[in-house]
Amino acid sequence: MKEQLKQKFANHDAKVAVVGLGYVGLPLAVEIAEQGHIVHGVDVSTEKVDSLNNKESYVLDVKSEKLSELVGRNLLPTTDFSVLADADAISICVPTPLNKTKDPDASYINAVVEQIIKHMTSGTLIVLESTTYPGTTEELIKHVIEEQTSFKAGEDFFLCFSPERVDPGNKEFNTKNTPKVIGGVTPDCLELGVELYGSFLENLVPVSSTNVAEMVKLLENTFRSVNIGLVNELTLMCDRMGINVWEVIDAAATKPFGYMPFYPGPGIGGHCIPLDPMYLSWKAKMFDFYNRFIELASDVNGNMPRYVLSQIGDILNDQEKSIKNANILMLGVAYKKDIDDLRESPALEIYKLLEEKGAALSFHDPFVETFRNGDEVVSSVELTKEALEKADLVVIATNHTPVDYQFVVDNASVVYDTRNATKHLGESKNTILLGGEQNENPLAHLNY
Ligand SMILES: NC(=O)c1ccc[n+]([C@@H]2O[C@H](COP(=O)([O-])OP(=O)(O)OC[C@H]3O[C@@H](n4cnc5c(N)ncnc54)[C@H](O)[C@@H]3O)[C@@H](O)[C@H]2O)c1
Repeated sequence: MKEQLKQKFANHDAKVAVVGLGYVGLPLAVEIAEQGHIVHGVDVSTEKVDSLNNKESYVLDVKSEKLSELVGRNLLPTTDFSVLADADAISICVPTPLNKTKDPDASYINAVVEQIIKHMTSGTLIVLESTTYPGTTEELIKHVIEEQTSFKAGEDFFLCFSPERVDPGNKEFNTKNTPKVIGGVTPDCLELGVELYGSFLENLVPVSSTNVAEMVKLLENTFRSVNIGLVNELTLMCDRMGINVWEVIDAAATKPFGYMPFYPGPGIGGHCIPLDPMYLSWKAKMFDFYNRFIELASDVNGNMPRYVLSQIGDILNDQEKSIKNANILMLGVAYKKDIDDLRESPALEIYKLLEEKGAALSFHDPFVETFRNGDEVVSSVELTKEALEKADLVVIATNHTPVDYQFVVDNASVVYDTRNATKHLGESKNTILLGGEQNENPLAHLNY
């Protein structure tokens, strides 16, 4: 059974089901299909499946032209889970959010496992890609399948964990050329996982177990969360001390070894950095271990939108204005630059906080046409001279590349730049950076 599967993977002749066609699953499905395998793309969202069958992409990193080439040939989007019966391999890419009490919500994984049990035939390789706590692959997939069927992992089915590292919007690194870590529950499982993933990815990093692979992903994202937390805290400290934190970071970044720059911002967003470390600290508590770094970073980062709110209050105060009734134009609502993802976006939290204080708000985002604010749908306004002149304050919440920041600074009365997007404009007297300093960084010419 194992040799047959290996042969199919090596010959690019397998049937692979990718379950969950979002930011992670769709680029993965496209990559596998491009290498000749037949891919059943399975999603519960009829809207997404219809869009894919109409060859219209909803993920910026996947071009609709690519779908035109593949859909109907090697890529077959469907909402019908019975295709799992036909699959040599199944990759699971469903969401792993937190619930209201900030504990892991594994219900999406459980729902997929239920469908796998219903349809799976012997000799299938299953790979979990969703980010999750160490132990998930064994506890929620291996044990559940073994308890509810006669199949045994490593004999009747094969099981791996391979965390997705994709960085949406990254022009250099994509699904194909980002090294991918993979661990199996047995050596045979790992061998098969490496064979399949090696047939469409450039560089694999096999590790000894699914637990290690799960922990690798959480280390990576915890590392980011903690370092961003450190630099955010340093920003609050520099604000008190009257030091320009951006200049400090740029100067520190000239050290050619032993230092890696992280930048402050209005808070962290997306489906990964704010959530993933919480998966780890939740699991660690079961081992009577309290993760102080994770909790501290989450606390510091989670409070940044409120710090931004207080700085906005101070900036308006200096102009003898209040947040109430101030005309505030937010530039960018996506959680990071050059993408359209609004999940956990700190800009939206700041928007809400300002709204609660009675500000008159509008936003411009070249990647986001609208967002839902309670019952209301808010639309992006055009970035015109009039819109900038009308604003009591322009808040740069996301540093999208297509925005003309010179035009913004030239036409707005006051700009509050939470991302240092105006760094390369040189000194601009009407621009205040996150941390409270004016934009007058003499190192602005250094391109970090
Ligand atoms: N977005 C990122 O940058 C990124 C990067 C690395 C890892 N991850 C991880 O990858 C996983 C997926 O994230 P994403 O950003 O692609 O999420 P997403 O919300 O963009 O996509 C998930 C897809 O799964 C579908 N889905 C939900 N329940 C389903 C079910 N029972 N059966 C089939 N489909 C179902 C949804 O309709 C959606 O299309 C998460 O665990 C996330 O932490 C995300």
